[in-house]
Amino acid sequence: MRRLPPNRERFFWQEVRAVCKESRVLQGRAFCQHGDTSVYQHSLHVTYESCLFAERYHLPVDYSALIRGALLHDYFLYDWHDKTHMHKRPHGFYHPKAALKNAMEDFALTEKEQNIIKRHMFPLTIIPPGCIEAWIVCFVDKVCSTKETLYRGKILRRRPLLRASKLRKTG
Ligand SMILES: [Fe+2]
Ligand SMILES: [Fe+2]
Repeated sequence: MRRLPPNRERFFWQEVRAVCKESRVLQGRAFCQHGDTSVYQHSLHVTYESCLFAERYHLPVDYSALIRGALLHDYFLYDWHDKTHMHKRPHGFYHPKAALKNAMEDFALTEKEQNIIKRHMFPLTIIPPGCIEAWIVCFVDKVCSTKETLYRGKILRRRPLLRASKLRKTG
């Protein structure tokens, strides 16, 4: 199983803890995303895999923006399976805006971080990502979502750092 180098891994968890502490990201543990994966687990999964992708291909990314943007990319804070919820617009089109709105309430996000959240549903939403970090999250999100749907909990159980004990530590 691929892991980030130790210094990058430390930085990863430092950033994740800071975001969790200052926001409502942990509320995502109560909402299901795909299969039996919660929105929080999915966001963490996408964030870690995005860092691995950047690391693997030696891409010149801003890791802080990548981590913060990826962790907040699905920060919509509602159960999208609940059809009685007040969001009437189709979730796929609507949720990047909802996520960005919530994220802007909690953080002063950089342009790059905003772009990661706003553009992650391309090509469903027409405007493409505007920076390398946003392209990475847009691509990795689709890979992770597919794996979570196909393999359900198995995909996260195979990733030791995303298992419940680590998640509890973060919470
Ligand atoms: Fe999304
Ligand atoms: Fe996502």
